[in-house]
Amino acid sequence: MSLIEQIRESEKHISDQLSGQTPNIGLILGSGLGVLADEIDNPVTIPYHEIPHFPQSTVEGHKGQLVIGELQGQTVVAMQGRFHYYEGYSMQHVTFPVRVMKQLGVEKLVVTNAAGGINESFNAGDLMLIEDHINNMGDNPLMGKNVDELGPRFPDMSQAYDRDLIETAQKTADEIGLNVQRGVYVGNSGPTYETSSEVKMLRTLGGDAVGMSTVPEVIVANHAGMRVLGISCISNMAAGILDQPLSHDEVIETTEQVKQQFIQLVKQTLQSL
Ligand code: HPA
Repeated sequence: MSLIEQIRESEKHISDQLSGQTPNIGLILGSGLGVLADEIDNPVTIPYHEIPHFPQSTVEGHKGQLVIGELQGQTVVAMQGRFHYYEGYSMQHVTFPVRVMKQLGVEKLVVTNAAGGINESFNAGDLMLIEDHINNMGDNPLMGKNVDELGPRFPDMSQAYDRDLIETAQKTADEIGLNVQRGVYVGNSGPTYETSSEVKMLRTLGGDAVGMSTVPEVIVANHAGMRVLGISCISNMAAGILDQPLSHDEVIETTEQVKQQFIQLVKQTLQSL
């Protein structure tokens, strides 16, 4: 079965469970940030394993379902849990849900993640509006024959994160008195955290935060002509900055502490999208 046919089958399975709603905003909720989906009104919840051609999530702290409904007057489709390259999925599988979202009618994608702070002026617990990314994953979801119906062979990535959406989020943060950072997200494959030397290198290269997701989804969203807003929760300072080892527990713990701020920022921003 072709990729297009798979996308259509997934989309149909989802649409059949909706009563005419068309989500126009997609949310990808990263580690510990899935709670935002619990705020969606009149939710239709669909576990990934029920959706044809969807991969399944395996990582701790990820639920693995789509939640479709109303949030701040917008019809949204949220991924509660995402697929990571380090889990062994191909880039095509990692990004498949973004293509299904596009088929459902999504035009704007809000992508979130937990990330390590590379910029030494950051602190654990900060939120960062992503201004740009560096693909350091050693792969690209658009490798292989281009499917012209999905987008162009050589997509422009000069404004991968939509400037207007960044400004909308910044304005919202200012209004609610939330101090947000801005910067460049580096996508690494993981699953290892970085060495101290790698963190130094990434800083020299212009990175402000580093994580193991987001880049593939944002590439495919740009390919599909979607506008992207990216928000990182700086869950820890990257390796070598503080004299302490990194752990997934710390990532989850910090995210837990800032999730109310994160929820408030995303919800208020949604109102103005
Ligand atoms: N490095 C990579 N990915 C991460 C980190 C980190 O320090 N924190 C959360 N995700």
